[in-house]
Amino acid sequence: MLKPKQAETLTMLNLPNLSLLISLLCHVSILSPLYARELQIGYYTETCPDAESIVREVMWRAMIREPRSVASVMRLQFHDCFVNGCDGSVLLDETETMLGEKEALSNVNSLRSFEVIDAIKEAVEDSCPGVVSCADIIIMASRDAVALSGGPYWNVKLGREDSLDASQDDSSDIMPSPRANATMLIDLFNRFNLTITDLVALSGSHSIGEARCFSIVFRLYNQSGSGRPDPNMDAKFRNKLDQLCPKGGDENITGGLDFTPVKFDNQYFKDLVQLRGFLNSDQTLFSDEIRTRKLVKKFSIDQEAFFKAFIEGMVRMGDLQNRKKGEIRKNCRVANNQRKDDLLIRVF
Ligand code: HEM
Ligand SMILES: *[C@@H]1O[C@H](CO)[C@@H](O)[C@H](O)[C@H]1NC(C)=O
Ligand SMILES: *[C@@H]1O[C@H](CO)[C@@H](O)[C@H](O)[C@H]1NC(C)=O
Ligand SMILES: *[C@@H]1O[C@H](CO)[C@@H](O)[C@H](O)[C@H]1NC(C)=O
Ligand SMILES: *[C@@H]1O[C@H](CO)[C@@H](O)[C@H](O)[C@H]1NC(C)=O
Repeated sequence: MLKPKQAETLTMLNLPNLSLLISLLCHVSILSPLYARELQIGYYTETCPDAESIVREVMWRAMIREPRSVASVMRLQFHDCFVNGCDGSVLLDETETMLGEKEALSNVNSLRSFEVIDAIKEAVEDSCPGVVSCADIIIMASRDAVALSGGPYWNVKLGREDSLDASQDDSSDIMPSPRANATMLIDLFNRFNLTITDLVALSGSHSIGEARCFSIVFRLYNQSGSGRPDPNMDAKFRNKLDQLCPKGGDENITGGLDFTPVKFDNQYFKDLVQLRGFLNSDQTLFSDEIRTRKLVKKFSIDQEAFFKAFIEGMVRMGDLQNRKKGEIRKNCRVANNQRKDDLLIRVF
């Protein structure tokens, strides 16, 4: 039998280990219940009434400082929502025990303006600490990016939680390459219950922003391994791109994704009809698939129809959820318990 003193010592030693074990197990997804959050328009009306205006204000200031930043922030919604739902996972920095999504092929040297999200988070935390999720900040900021660029405005549903981790593998598996053709993109969007109209309208987000030569050199010099350029390119436009992105040149140089890259409009679709799409994944929507071509043509002559379909697509994409229990992160780049988790995994 243990003497009281020994028992006490054992308890002191074991209890922390037991709670470590329990908290570790809780992080194993099979054991945590899957659940869905009820997203609502005006979710923060009571708990953080200025949240939406603070986000808009910081976005506006970011745009004044660097016009491209609003496009870069808007892209984060796509890269966040397609990888295990809209859960802020794309924002997490790599740790000793977790490979970040930021370093996945579609994201590395490419996703940007994380500092704008940080600035928004700081401003929102000043006003109401611990209330507004980073996942919701991405959704609000993307909506504002479009409106500030001359596009439409819409109400966003809020109430998301931030993930506790990120998955570089899932990002690599899911995020489409600029080499993708229309058929592959239709299939990919379909996996998320997003329609062909969603695909074409959401691709219209490329009405703002820029892409690197890295994302187009293959189609300028060796489309599908043919050793030749993509035939679906206007000759004058191709000459322009050849100068921007010479063979063997600096692949970090960027060009506008459409002819009006700081204005959110239907110019992107007009460009595609004239074979002046920047990315292969853009041009393919007009050149390779009758079902997407019809919509490209329609949006190229009807901006209102594009705006309406775009809003519907953004809302549906924003509905993609991570069904694991999350949290409201204090810092969008780190899970709240990150330090403890790293320690835990070392202990076991
Ligand atoms: C349909 C499949 C899509 C593909 C294959 C694709 C691919 C790309 C690529 C390759 C770039 C340029 C990356 C670089 O060279 O650094 C880019 C930029 C961009 N993408 Fe997409 N994208 C797709 C859909 C979307 C969607 C759905 C959205 C948002 C709703 C979006 C928003 C953006 C924006 C705004 C930029 C410019 C970002 C900046 O200037 O920093 N894209 N995309
Ligand atoms: C699209 O790409 C896939 C995968 O590379 C290929 O199997 C398919 O034939 C392509 N479809 C078209 C219409 O080019
Ligand atoms: C797509 O819809 C089906 C049927 O309603 C549903 O079971 C599935 O979970 C949905 N997929 C996604 C990614 O939302
Ligand atoms: C073009 O791509 C193909 C297949 O990806 C490759 O085998 C070939 O060497 C490339 N040609 C040039 C000129 O880079
Ligand atoms: C682009 O720039 C990054 C640093 O920002 C560098 O690590 C990378 O090697 C460059 N990539 C190319 C293709 O030049």
